Amino acid sequence: MIAAPAMKKIAVMTTGGDCPGLNAGIRAVVRSAIHHGLEVTGILRGYEGMIQNQFIPLPSHAVSNIIQRGGTILKTARSEQFKTVEGRAKAYENLRTNGVDGLILLGGDGSIRGIQQFLQEHDLPVVAIPKTIDNDIYGTDYAVGYDTALNTVVQAIDKIRDTADSHDRIFFVEVMGRDAGMIAVLSGIGSGAEAIAIPETRTRIEQIVQVLQRGWHRKKTSMIVIVAEGDDAGGAYKIADAVRQRFDSFDTRVSVLGHMQRGGSPTCFDRVLSSRLGVAAVDALVQGRRDIMVGVIDNKIAETPFETVVARRKEFPYDLMRVAEILSL
Ligand code: F6P
Repeated sequence: MIAAPAMKKIAVMTTGGDCPGLNAGIRAVVRSAIHHGLEVTGILRGYEGMIQNQFIPLPSHAVSNIIQRGGTILKTARSEQFKTVEGRAKAYENLRTNGVDGLILLGGDGSIRGIQQFLQEHDLPVVAIPKTIDNDIYGTDYAVGYDTALNTVVQAIDKIRDTADSHDRIFFVEVMGRDAGMIAVLSGIGSGAEAIAIPETRTRIEQIVQVLQRGWHRKKTSMIVIVAEGDDAGGAYKIADAVRQRFDSFDTRVSVLGHMQRGGSPTCFDRVLSSRLGVAAVDALVQGRRDIMVGVIDNKIAETPFETVVARRKEFPYDLMRVAEILSL
């Protein structure tokens, strides 16, 4: 049997939407690779930079003083070209020219789908680290960025609650989550929201109205309705309009939190998560495991093949909706 050639140089990149904790992950990959005697190159702007040959050296000092910073020092992009056979062939040629023996990507399920397509055409050991504020990736309890986003949302809602209470208003707060209600549910419990609308369950305007009427009868002076942007009844503006037509005892306002949820200094939880996963990803590559995502399940490192990550849907914690409902009295 011929042994696989030893790995000398690996590449790291961030792809898809950014989130807090990416820099902590890049740092962990670089430092851990150096620990194993590997050279590291960074690819700028994800798949786009791979195609455009935007490779940069990443010595140890390049990742000093970044663990606490939001965004990504490697930049990120969504690439249309990588969706083409020609784009992927160009990307592979550049990886070869730059002497890359293995790749670690910090990405979401879209990025993992992209690399899966690439791996059907080209041979390269790849390990992924899950990141998305939506926390909807199968194979990990937590994705990098989610905890920080949650804390950002809760802090924002605390502030909104102050002004809502001063003016006796209902606020409809829209949070991110095109297909996922994780941010909405957890931030809803954490901020004491009266109602939560998410894409995973059918939203009934009548039900929201009943909850708000109940609050009014119980002499509440402010109320918060959290709406995930991908909710089936529409965004926060649409739901606020529909509610207003049936219940007008309160003045109402809408606040869309938007991309502030993707920025900011990562929480300690996200820094530690990203650091653990960075080390686990390099360990996996060095030990010859490939085409897997490293995640954390029950606080232990878990490796899941790419095909499983993209084929399975993460279970939604419906029990938390019940917690939110009970506590919104
Ligand atoms: O996937 C993460 C996410 O934050 C979604 O919740 C949101 O809908 C989307 O990214 C926004 O992406 P963009 O930055 O392209 O507007």
